[in-house]
Amino acid sequence: MCGIVGYTGRRDAAPVLLGGLKRLEYRGYDSFGIATVGSAIEVYKKAGRIPDGDPGAVGLVGCTGIGHTRWATHGEPNEINAHPHMDCEGKIAVVHNGVIENYAELKRHLQERGHTFRSETDTEVIAHLIEEKYDGDLLAAVNAVLPLLQGSYAILVIAGDTQRIVAARDASPLVLGIGDDEVFAASDMTPLLEYTERVIFLEDGDVADLMPGRYTIYHGGLEVERPIELINWCFEDTRKGGFPHYMLKEIYEQPQSFYETIRAGIDEHVRRMVMEADEITLVACGTSYHTALVFKYLAESLCGIPVRVEMGSEFKYFTPPLRGLVIAVSQSGETADTIAALKMAKARNCPTLAITNMQGSTVTRIADETLLMRAGPEIGVAATKSYMAQLAALMEILNIRCDGEFDDALSHAHLAIGDVLLLDIQDAVDLCSKVEHVFFVGRGPFYPVAMEGALKMKEISYVHAEGYAAGELKHGPFALLTPETPVVAICTPGPTYGVMASNIKEIKARRAPVIAVGVAGDIELPEIVDIFIPIPNTHLLVQVLTASVVLQLLAYHTACALNRDVDKPRNLAKSVTVE
Ligand code: G6P
Repeated sequence: MCGIVGYTGRRDAAPVLLGGLKRLEYRGYDSFGIATVGSAIEVYKKAGRIPDGDPGAVGLVGCTGIGHTRWATHGEPNEINAHPHMDCEGKIAVVHNGVIENYAELKRHLQERGHTFRSETDTEVIAHLIEEKYDGDLLAAVNAVLPLLQGSYAILVIAGDTQRIVAARDASPLVLGIGDDEVFAASDMTPLLEYTERVIFLEDGDVADLMPGRYTIYHGGLEVERPIELINWCFEDTRKGGFPHYMLKEIYEQPQSFYETIRAGIDEHVRRMVMEADEITLVACGTSYHTALVFKYLAESLCGIPVRVEMGSEFKYFTPPLRGLVIAVSQSGETADTIAALKMAKARNCPTLAITNMQGSTVTRIADETLLMRAGPEIGVAATKSYMAQLAALMEILNIRCDGEFDDALSHAHLAIGDVLLLDIQDAVDLCSKVEHVFFVGRGPFYPVAMEGALKMKEISYVHAEGYAAGELKHGPFALLTPETPVVAICTPGPTYGVMASNIKEIKARRAPVIAVGVAGDIELPEIVDIFIPIPNTHLLVQVLTASVVLQLLAYHTACALNRDVDKPRNLAKSVTVE
């Protein structure tokens, strides 16, 4: 994973780089570092998060520089392994996002030639390889080294004797920001928003030569033009806006992210693709996998389309027979497993659609068509408003297949989502923050909603949580039920209400406390459960959305009660660009 940023222009580079890295911390936050070109290369690296106004870092001089925030793959997260990495003489500095798969062999070869390595990283080989080729022409040196690298990379390289950055990408994202007398480079567009709305999404195989106010892009040794695109996000969206955490802000932005995604609609090409599909396969990971499962339940039961949902990580090695439309669902558009699955679907000549929040991301380049979610920048590591926008996009697809049957429900859903934000769930939070295990159960589309509730709970509060199909709990997990094991049950009106109520009674009979999410006005459920949380009695699709918000809030407030680092939970990263 990791995030990289580069700047060359008229400003002091260090504050620009540090500010940019802070925006990219969601990609990894175990250590960071920057390097600038002063009279020579100056470097500052540290283990841990990026502090505000760190004098050591801000003090670096120079108007050209590169920076990196790390999610460790090769070597533990300490200062030595933090990027930038340098050559033997300290004349070349490199930051890298990706994995150099043949680094061990390259390292051995370089050591035999007398190079001294300081870190355990794969990246350091790049700096030493460039050192071997560098004779004052940084672009030529980088070009000579790239063919030796196997794996994935987005790299930014500087040399101590020139005000330029050479950038290259292959299978890792890299975006240029074009200012008036300045050029930026970053893993995604969030660090650029403060300075420019004009961006260029580099393609795999591109090499860019960046100088203050000038850039040239090459592909296969030839100069190429890449279109300048305008970003549709604004800088203010990346601020906390008075909320204690990004996650809470983003939970509160969900009425908007749902509404905007529905309002944006679906273009003719995507519409045709969806209408022509006699079968749909969705590939996704993490939270996106859960939205895909929700879609499966709804699409199969409401419009009779056969839907298969595959985890990106399994798909590549155990590819199912494929027919019909393949949809990759990915907030970031950069998840390695989802990308690999999408490429395989392409190779099998399936029509492909990407549903993503990231304009210009890798999935948009691979898929035949893209459906852009309108969640805006999501900074908290735990996905919330992007989950909501994914559901909006998927429900819109459902609506198209059902000839607009859900128009009314979808156009008013944001109001109900807004209503549940105000619910008092303190009793449930008090219960969950005192225990070690919580089960989440539901049936039909509420089963993946329960899985997502459990994922949110474990990733940000570190309370162990499992999401189960309510009927399965008695086939094993019942053995774990005690008065200290609360079960969160989603039980709304419909064909499974009765059987859910029976399941809840069975759970109660094992003395486990039950927190039920049901609809306002239900008089039976509050009688049999310990805590009842009422969501509005609306259309099934809307109940899926509102129940999800309740579980997000439960996880969030439980994590806060336990003093967890909500926006940056341990060991995680928002965008997982390694397999
Ligand atoms: C990571 C994040 C999850 C996310 C998953 C898939 O694991 O921590 O929140 O759901 O990646 O990400 P994507 O960008 O493909 O939706």
